[in-house]
Amino acid sequence: MSKILDGKLLSKQIKDELKFQVDILIKSGKKVPHLAAIIVGNDGASLTYVSSKVKSCKKIGYNSSLIKLDEKISEQKLINEINKLNQNSDVDGFIVQLPLPKHINEEKILNQIKPSKDVDGFHPSNFGKMALGLETFIPATPYGIMEIFSRYKISLEGKIVVVLGRSNIVGKPISILMSNKGNPGNATVILTHSKTNNLVNLTKQADVIISALGIPNFLKSEMIKKNCIVIDVGITRVKNPLKPKGYEIVGDVDFDNVIKKSSYITPVPGGVGPMTIAMLLKNTMHAYIRKTS
Ligand code: GUN
Repeated sequence: MSKILDGKLLSKQIKDELKFQVDILIKSGKKVPHLAAIIVGNDGASLTYVSSKVKSCKKIGYNSSLIKLDEKISEQKLINEINKLNQNSDVDGFIVQLPLPKHINEEKILNQIKPSKDVDGFHPSNFGKMALGLETFIPATPYGIMEIFSRYKISLEGKIVVVLGRSNIVGKPISILMSNKGNPGNATVILTHSKTNNLVNLTKQADVIISALGIPNFLKSEMIKKNCIVIDVGITRVKNPLKPKGYEIVGDVDFDNVIKKSSYITPVPGGVGPMTIAMLLKNTMHAYIRKTS
């Protein structure tokens, strides 16, 4: 049995399911879902991620718009762009790619997004609903991780989950989702961060480790117990002159060694990354359905 949790394969299944729904809409003469993305500045990695989100829209038949804004744009002008999307009835959902330049207050920006179009699930009202277990948009990366457990039928009930990193995008929401009632859910979660003492004592007890640090090869096989399930959320670009692009994408996990000791593991690339895109598309379909029903 393969130990690899194949995010690329699952994401294709999810995108095929969405394409099937879009084809039905087209056949019945209806409008298709429309996802818009705002990106500020020229960060290579962020541009790549946003472009692949837009490309995936095209593949499954969604409309998409990419709004590229100057690095030096004022906070007010960015808010104006958000308001345009809030009011544009053709746009079902949109995202503002993070991180934003330092002169822009991220919290203020996320607060401006109309909650019914917030397909990232980052607006405080959507994040609050998620924490309460109410129906809402689940942030795409944690949603993708939950979907991996769901589609591979791996139960989290009673398991000890150690999450590395407390970001609002991954660490905090995945801790909440995995400890919520439900299946997958009902786990006992330990959320660790830069001030955690004796981290290795904790990781060695974990049945599941979710690593969302962005530190290449941080998690070594000595830090885990046998048969641990390892989910690698890291996607760091590391210079490598031998690669065609001059860099490679490296996860948080020392994959070649950790795979020998783990029961299941997500690869990088081809694990959580493609799932994030698939779940963003799924959230956009949810936004479309809620608006039209
Ligand atoms: N930056 C890294 N991950 C994400 C994400 O899921 N959404 C947005 N908007 N920005 C990100």
